[in-house]
Amino acid sequence: MSDNLVCIKDFEVHAHEVLSRNALDYYRSGAGQEETLIQNNRAFSRYKIRPRCLRNVANRDLSTTILGEKVSMPIGIAPTAMQRMAHPDGECANARAAQALGTVFTLSTIATSSIEEVTKSAPNVLKWFQLYIYKDRKVTTSLVRRAEQAGFRALVLTVDAPMFGLRLADIKNKFTLPPHLKLANFDGTKSTDINKNNEEGSGLNAYVNSLFDASVTWEDIEWLKSISTLPIVLKGILTAQDAIMGVEAGAAGIWVSNHGARQIDGTPASIEALPEIVKAVGNKVEIYLDGGIRDGTDVFKALAMGARMVFMGRPALWGLAHSGEEGVKKILTIIKTEFDYALAISGCANISDIKPSMVVHESYYSRL
Ligand SMILES: Cc1cc2nc3c(=O)[nH]c(=O)nc-3n(C[C@H](O)[C@H](O)[C@H](O)COP(=O)(O)O)c2cc1C
Repeated sequence: MSDNLVCIKDFEVHAHEVLSRNALDYYRSGAGQEETLIQNNRAFSRYKIRPRCLRNVANRDLSTTILGEKVSMPIGIAPTAMQRMAHPDGECANARAAQALGTVFTLSTIATSSIEEVTKSAPNVLKWFQLYIYKDRKVTTSLVRRAEQAGFRALVLTVDAPMFGLRLADIKNKFTLPPHLKLANFDGTKSTDINKNNEEGSGLNAYVNSLFDASVTWEDIEWLKSISTLPIVLKGILTAQDAIMGVEAGAAGIWVSNHGARQIDGTPASIEALPEIVKAVGNKVEIYLDGGIRDGTDVFKALAMGARMVFMGRPALWGLAHSGEEGVKKILTIIKTEFDYALAISGCANISDIKPSMVVHESYYSRL
């Protein structure tokens, strides 16, 4: 394929050509029959933009703030595990790209670059740390301390993964982490530790299910608050009930997500879950969204529907697979430009000009 890649879809097609099956399927796939995976992006097309005209959009400002810190655009990087399968610089390259674009980078607990490596590599990026709670709470406490020391600004607690979902492609492939890589936040964890249980399916699932604590409850958020003063963002909320409980538990942000459709098939697309959560807690905490963001118009729709910030997972992996830091910069620049066009042509000069009335569900028109 030529290297004339002009949209995120082009980078996805390119990644399909260059990644190994083991890595591509791990990055690409969703849980079960992948219904939700398809819907995550498709659902955006069911919402329609109602542009306004003649509103002087000559000078535009795409910047916003998240948890009080300025970012150049309302688009950040979601945590995805094991990025060195896509490029030798993995998470470090991804963080440097976010730094260059002036946006937030979220590092996964199960990264192939460590907390300290990422900090050294991208000293000025605004960075958040994604947390899984281990059965051995000392492991989690130590990760929190290291993230605090390294200047991470928030803890993103993933609440939708008591176990990892059944990703059939990984089971078929007997997914393994390539032998030269390791889970870098755990010095002792070599790929051999993850791969040793993969005779029956995904080695990663067996590994995770043996270490992560499936008995975690809302009380553990209390515990997390007792060990750190960093703001806590709850990632993976899909219902108003859980959003309300999250706010009561002291979360500073609610991250609406179905984990890129990787946990349980049959959930709504995350954009479909957004309205009830905005209605329930939108005036109390910041609301973020990920899942299927592939175009600047998706960003516009999510913001009009009440998200303060959106995050992308796979697109950054496709950027990494293309050309590391440069590839992720390209991805971010493409979607920033698309969002700028969406903003201008809808009659908005800045983020606060985006109003809820500017996006409606398609049923609005079929009723006419
Ligand atoms: C390959 C891959 C690995 C992921 N690893 C993590 C992880 O370690 N922690 C986490 O909270 N979410 C993880 N996620 C979910 C993402 O943070 C995010 O919710 C999702 O990718 C957003 O959907 P998108 O890929 O359509 O942008 C992962 C997603 C993918 C695709």
